Amino acid sequence: MKKSRIGFLSGSALVVCLALGNAAIAAGDPARGAKAFQACAACHSVAPGEHMTGPSLANLWHRKAGTISDFLRYSEAMKRANVVWNEGTLDKWLANPDAFLPGTSMTFQGLREAKDREDLIAYLKAVSEGKRPAAGGKGQGMGMSMRKPDLKKAPAEGQVTAIAHCSDTYTVRTADGKVAKVWEFNLRFKTDSGKEGPSPGKPVIVGAGMQGDRASAGLSVIALRLSLLAPLAVFAGVAAVLAVGLTLNPREVPSPLIGRPVPKFDLPPVKGRTLGLASRDLGGEVSLVNVFASWCVACREEHPLLMDLHKRGVLPVHGLDYKDKPDDAASWLAEMGDPYTRTGADLDGRVAIDWGVYGVPETFVIGRDGRIAYKKIGPITPRIMREKLLPLIEQLRR
Ligand code: HEC
Repeated sequence: MKKSRIGFLSGSALVVCLALGNAAIAAGDPARGAKAFQACAACHSVAPGEHMTGPSLANLWHRKAGTISDFLRYSEAMKRANVVWNEGTLDKWLANPDAFLPGTSMTFQGLREAKDREDLIAYLKAVSEGKRPAAGGKGQGMGMSMRKPDLKKAPAEGQVTAIAHCSDTYTVRTADGKVAKVWEFNLRFKTDSGKEGPSPGKPVIVGAGMQGDRASAGLSVIALRLSLLAPLAVFAGVAAVLAVGLTLNPREVPSPLIGRPVPKFDLPPVKGRTLGLASRDLGGEVSLVNVFASWCVACREEHPLLMDLHKRGVLPVHGLDYKDKPDDAASWLAEMGDPYTRTGADLDGRVAIDWGVYGVPETFVIGRDGRIAYKKIGPITPRIMREKLLPLIEQLRR
């Protein structure tokens, strides 16, 4: 963005020189306007149907303002404005958007020079007429240089297979087998349900600027496709970038492990118990694997439900004890009751990374075939138990 702004400034300086030397020229120059469009290209494309922060500016001419039906982010002010776009209205709009349409959500300070506006308007008109001029030396106009990478074709080093959060650090595992540790402040969750966005359930890690090299060490943005998740998809229209920390509800992040065999692991039991937990113990019968920790407050909430499953003998519940001190885990189970058939002490959290654990508690339903059938992030509630887990267990047993 910085780059395009600089480009624009030098472009306008050029325009001013030409205007002084050639005051007789009145009509705008679409080719120069294409350069001036760099000031808009961070938020607008001229390709039909391609919306960014702002709507596509294709076919703008003589169209009523605020009326592109698949652009969902117009302000009320724009929707209510009774404006048709032409030379006159565009000139006023681009000179000072706020003054022309108080309450608009276009945060653009306006183009001060009348000549710049004239050129830009000539360019937008040419675009509407299908006569888009090439911007100087930059191919098909600036919109093209803003092209987003196609995240459905992300290379293995960009495909995220697991994310774990601990203290102020995210541990991100990618399909090439590498593990990156990222300071949480440098990680943003982004959503993109568009053509170039990642496939559902297949998060991709990309560089901060969207243009960034995904293979570089500067892993700082994660793009997720969340369109299958209605509550977040609605949210995604309002806030394109959600700082993680505790803001984004990780409960809704789909797991790439669903339908896959449980990861290979072999853990010793929690202190004071005899049966450890390994991949070979899962399968043959339907079971639950519950990720817990003595330091996890939400685990207390769900604990009575696990005790109930255990007492009624509904199915084996196994515990994966995440990053716990052996003594703490032992006394927690002594105090709260022990619902687990087997336990695995994952002291350093490595096994949890393979399970794609985002945080504790998490609960996995394992089918007879040893595959993960379902995963619940966050505490189990009576409602989830009733409406999701028990029916699913029933179904998997058939
Ligand atoms: C920071 C982002 C941003 C920049 C930069 C920007 N716009 Fe916009 N633009 C928007 C947004 C957002 C809207 C919708 C405004 C609203 O609904 O109030 C918009 C709306 C418009 C519209 C109305 C479209 C319609 O469908 O009615 C036009 C025309 C427009 N912009 C032209 C431009 C031009 C030309 C530039 C460059 C000089 C520019 N904008 C720069 C974000 C931007």
